[in-house]
Amino acid sequence: MSFDYKIADISLHEAGRHQIRLAEHEMPGLMSLREEFAEEQPLKGARIAGSLHMTVQTAVLIETLVALGAEVRWASCNIFSTQDEAAAAVVVGPQGTTDDLQGVPVFAWKNESLEEYWWTAAQIFAWPGVDEDPTVGANMILDDGGDATLLVHKGAEFEAAGGVPSAQEDDPEEYRIILETLRQSMTENPQRFTGIASTIKGVTEETTTGVNRLYQLARDGRLLFPAINVNDSVTKSKFDNKYGVRHSLPDGIMRATDVLLGGKTAVVCGYGDVGKGSADALRGQGARVIVTEIDPINALQAAMDGYQVAQLDDVVDQAHLFITTTGGKDLITAEQMQRMRDKAIVGNVGHFDNEIDMAGLAKIPGIKKVEIKPQVREWVFPSGGSIILLSEGRLLNLGNATGHPSFVMSSSFANQTIAQIELFAKSHKGFDGDGAYLSDVYTLPKILDEKVARLHLDALGVRLTELTKDQAEYLGIDVAGPYKPEHYRY
Ligand code: NAI
Repeated sequence: MSFDYKIADISLHEAGRHQIRLAEHEMPGLMSLREEFAEEQPLKGARIAGSLHMTVQTAVLIETLVALGAEVRWASCNIFSTQDEAAAAVVVGPQGTTDDLQGVPVFAWKNESLEEYWWTAAQIFAWPGVDEDPTVGANMILDDGGDATLLVHKGAEFEAAGGVPSAQEDDPEEYRIILETLRQSMTENPQRFTGIASTIKGVTEETTTGVNRLYQLARDGRLLFPAINVNDSVTKSKFDNKYGVRHSLPDGIMRATDVLLGGKTAVVCGYGDVGKGSADALRGQGARVIVTEIDPINALQAAMDGYQVAQLDDVVDQAHLFITTTGGKDLITAEQMQRMRDKAIVGNVGHFDNEIDMAGLAKIPGIKKVEIKPQVREWVFPSGGSIILLSEGRLLNLGNATGHPSFVMSSSFANQTIAQIELFAKSHKGFDGDGAYLSDVYTLPKILDEKVARLHLDALGVRLTELTKDQAEYLGIDVAGPYKPEHYRY
């Protein structure tokens, strides 16, 4: 079979396949969905445009979607997060020969430029023949952070307006690149994204930042198709964001710097799910952790968990390590970075790089950048002092390490798979029965959340207690669940 793809090096496929094989063993949720739906093929006819870190774990997700009947095109949602061997194995496919590619078109490699990144995002929608006939193109999006969804929405918006606006002086560099990508697209086909938007049945979104964008679109009445918020499945955000980061944050810091964390002072900005996992991990290494928060509830939680809660300005010259985890912007300013101790380590695990003012840092007169190794740079101030910045302010757990481990991603990706099945079957675009998903944002029903958790119990030797009928009646719930009301917070 031949198809278009662009990755770093196809000869890495064997190394990738070994890692995928081991990951499958650690991903019981995905593997049991493959078994459950092998015959039914609920994703037959689905053409999924996927934008999510092209890691080994994502390879298992992609091959699960294919095993359930889907056709897939894939890009990474971050310029640094691709594991090149995983990308190669996915392109080659499980049968493992480069003479006859049986896999999936992937457009992803570690260390993309921003121009390349947006080119890859466009490629996941470039299904053969789609410009002549949109109905042969993507009909589902699987997104992480919302960039694929953004491309379709902005593209369709500009096409309706008859052109792409000029960039404003203060527009960030990345936004200029998006505008250029869409300008190019419109010259090739002035109605490309309008056609794509009309055929998309829905999007399933992985992360907090992407979900926030979806709710904004829905609130403004601009969401063009239904969306399932996968992030807020309990078995996603309360596991991946927290326990996943608890593993992959220290992994990234250690691979990048080899600095001993015990005894050091670390600031964690934000005490949501990712912040909680980060603070726990750093404390586990013996660091003294200080938390910053804007939300009194989260600040109180941090205090009761035993952390000092402070304002960054008051501690910026004391800490050895600064980690942002908020999904917000301008958490650490260039001015604050100049006040840090010499060789302080600065990194981010929130979705986008604007948590740290990288643009402001680059504009400091006389500042110098020294590459220590890939994704580790020392920024030397004119005063002589320096800071160590990881992954240029982008997700350091994926840039400096390999992201979350398989077991926790099995839980997240089981939710993704179930959400794809739900939306593909019941989007109002094609389904007018009861329970059709309209162009709004939904979470999966609690019973499915409980199912995802259940799929992971055996592997950990968990023996669940079963409710008796009598106990269930007393609590007013069903023996088979759901066990909690919607408002329960875990
Ligand atoms: P969350 O909403 O639970 O937590 C964010 C916290 O940051 C909130 O408590 C909020 O009050 C606080 N915050 C916002 N602005 C702040 C400011 N200026 N100063 C101090 N605190 C502030 O969100 P969650 O799930 O923890 O996700 C955070 C980010 O991490 C998102 O961008 C999400 O997409 C990303 N993420 C990254 C992962 C990774 O592997 N690196 C995994 C999962 C999520």
